[in-house]
Amino acid sequence: MANVNPNLRLRGLLLWWRKWGKMDWAIAATGFSTIVFILTYLSRRLPLPLDPAATALTTDNLVGLTLLHNATDRGALCLDGSLPGYHFRKGFGSGSNSWLLHIEGGGWCNTIASCLERKSTALGSSKYMDHQVRFSGILSHQSSQNPDFFNWNKVKIRYCDGASFAGHPQHEFKNGTKLLFRGQLIWEALLDELLAIGLFNAKQALLSGCSAGGLATLIHCDDFRERLPKDATVKCLADAGFFLDEKDVLGNYTMRSFYQDVIQLQGVAKSLQKNCITRMDPYKCLFPQEIIKETRTPIFLVNPAYDFWQIQHIVVPDASDPQGYWKRCRMNLRYCNPSQMEILLGFRSSLIKALSDFQQKKEGGLFINSCFSHCQTWMAETWHSSTSPRINGKVRIFYHLIC
Ligand SMILES: *[C@@H]1O[C@H](CO)[C@@H](O)[C@H](O)[C@H]1NC(C)=O
Ligand SMILES: *[C@@H]1O[C@H](CO)[C@@H](O)[C@H](O)[C@H]1NC(C)=O
Ligand SMILES: *[C@@H]1O[C@H](CO)[C@@H](O)[C@H](O)[C@H]1NC(C)=O
Repeated sequence: MANVNPNLRLRGLLLWWRKWGKMDWAIAATGFSTIVFILTYLSRRLPLPLDPAATALTTDNLVGLTLLHNATDRGALCLDGSLPGYHFRKGFGSGSNSWLLHIEGGGWCNTIASCLERKSTALGSSKYMDHQVRFSGILSHQSSQNPDFFNWNKVKIRYCDGASFAGHPQHEFKNGTKLLFRGQLIWEALLDELLAIGLFNAKQALLSGCSAGGLATLIHCDDFRERLPKDATVKCLADAGFFLDEKDVLGNYTMRSFYQDVIQLQGVAKSLQKNCITRMDPYKCLFPQEIIKETRTPIFLVNPAYDFWQIQHIVVPDASDPQGYWKRCRMNLRYCNPSQMEILLGFRSSLIKALSDFQQKKEGGLFINSCFSHCQTWMAETWHSSTSPRINGKVRIFYHLIC
């Protein structure tokens, strides 16, 4: 870490981008003392001063929705049969031939009932999607907010299939239950459209995504690389997409069963790495820990050690806490007692362990901090503001507003 810029913030992953080929990773979480620090910080409960530049909300940050019109012919449709969509902002200046794709998150649906419910939301149908979204954080076009990517071509990809762009129509029901499982087809149609509007000419490209979109990023990373020009520099960035195959507080593998259901319902195995599927149970191949072993394209991981979503759904899912013993702690770490803290620290250790081989890889990098948050690249407050997490010899803990 000898030549880390003192102002290295989350966007400092760009250092890694520039030092092409050189491993440049940082594990910023440093154990129990860090937690104590978080607790102290949280207990002050002060509203954080927000960077005025980061919060400036001008209408020119709004980017319109484009529906994937050619999708109908290919059957690349959302859960409800509507057209999938994306938001595109053209790059300029030195960023004209650089592309940043960002796949939005939104969990998964693992049962007929939960997929049917999703059909009447923006996560299952473009009928409910906002016609304009704000591009902030890594998607911002303001150099002050996003010095490294501001002038790149930027695409926010909307998520409407419920299986991280990995569902297959062979698994649809023929009995009147109207649910389309077209995630893989959406991914392919979308990439074709983006290639047609200029991605084919990219000199550098970064596929990124948050949460379920971070998982989609990992699933499709090598395919993305293969579809781009050979001489382009192509990398992938998964933000809060490193879901762990860990037990919940009752000792049940809730997340594992959940992924098994998603795979079975939507036929996700066909989109997973063949090498992995032939060696082990498909559910394992949906966990990033396995995906990153086989991925050839350089990957950068951004993940909090105490991922808010993972604590809510993997460590302490609702069903694991009927008595409400974790009710307060899982929402706010300062209410956790020592035995609860020990479990959360154990979860952090599992993350570090799951990443130990990845750290030996020559290409790729990671930024793991001790935030109690979920997705840090697309929000101005966590991406590049005076309160963003940063590395400066030691860690500066950041607690943001949704925590
Ligand atoms: C269709 O088949 C699925 C899977 O066997 C079943 O769960 C569902 O209830 C069926 N739907 C109808 C409308 O019969
Ligand atoms: C979409 O369809 C239009 C009209 O048929 C065609 O000109 C265009 O090339 C297609 N785009 C892609 C990405 O296939
Ligand atoms: C979780 O574990 C408990 C205790 O071992 C068991 O009683 C319960 O049935 C399990 N729940 C699920 C959903 O597997």
